[in-house]
Amino acid sequence: MKIYYFSGTGNSLAVGKDIAERLNASLIPAINTVDEEVIEIEDEVVGFVFPVYAFKPPPVFQDLIKKIENIQQKYLFAVCTYGITPSHCLKYFAKKIKYSGGTLSGGFAAAMPHNVFDSNWINHNDLEKLINNWKIKLDFISDYIDNRREGKIESAFILKDLFRTEIIRMIPVVKDMVVQVIMKGSESLAFSVSENCNGCGICECICPGDNIRLIDNFPCWLDHCLGCLACMHWCPQHAVNMGNGEFSIKCYHHPVIAVSEMVLKDKLNNRT
Ligand SMILES: Cc1cc2nc3c(=O)[nH]c(=O)nc-3n(C[C@H](O)[C@H](O)[C@H](O)COP(=O)(O)O)c2cc1C
Ligand code: SF4
Ligand code: SF4
Repeated sequence: MKIYYFSGTGNSLAVGKDIAERLNASLIPAINTVDEEVIEIEDEVVGFVFPVYAFKPPPVFQDLIKKIENIQQKYLFAVCTYGITPSHCLKYFAKKIKYSGGTLSGGFAAAMPHNVFDSNWINHNDLEKLINNWKIKLDFISDYIDNRREGKIESAFILKDLFRTEIIRMIPVVKDMVVQVIMKGSESLAFSVSENCNGCGICECICPGDNIRLIDNFPCWLDHCLGCLACMHWCPQHAVNMGNGEFSIKCYHHPVIAVSEMVLKDKLNNRT
């Protein structure tokens, strides 16, 4: 079994690792497939684990499914992690898979901290509750996949949880960023760096979009951002901010994931 994943702040990686451990699957960063024209997979079962971005899967998955050879012969499942609502993300993904000739046999949503709206407010108890709920769901999903069941694609009404106090409090802080991601995509997301930056290079090493270059020990962002916010949340100096630095978003990452697991290339080792 192969599981392709994408993760900016570790929620989806933690979920992917749990499923992989239960079902003895290998985990592959989806971003590693971008240069492949055809993806040949021997395994019968293929999974996809990703965060919901503006109600949809990250674009890399929409490309990936088009490239899987003999997709119609695979048993496919997906798990999205979300912070407010999975909305119709999995149904959308199922439709895209259908256009590519395959069938999404199971689509599941795992509630996790929202890496924009919750990062300033999440506390230990809330986090523990979310993780415990996920572990319960993991039992169900593992059993579902083990028995090759079919037909369950979870979705939720888009506005269901939009009016939580935390979200309302964060709206003035992130409204420009949200509008930008919905209207223009994440490519042009802007970040700024404070004087706390020590040039460690972690942001450059973990950026899944290869969108950061360290020039004279100072990070510079290019124009193909994937919007994952890894650079902001994993900076050990808390030096990265969205926009001009006027926003104040606390760093968040899933508690069981280490920064070393976020490095997709061997850049960090080369640097030390
Ligand atoms: C650019 C962006 C867009 C997002 N859009 C949504 C969304 O539409 N619905 C939602 O519930 N959460 C949304 N989120 C929150 C993430 O889906 C959620 O925190 C996820 O668990 C992060 O996973 P990761 O830690 O693996 O990156 C968004 C986050 C980002 C950075
Ligand atoms: S991770 Fe933070 S401290 Fe390190 S180079 Fe990037 S911005 Fe600077
Ligand atoms: S620049 Fe930051 S937000 Fe954009 S893809 Fe890289 S790590 Fe993610």
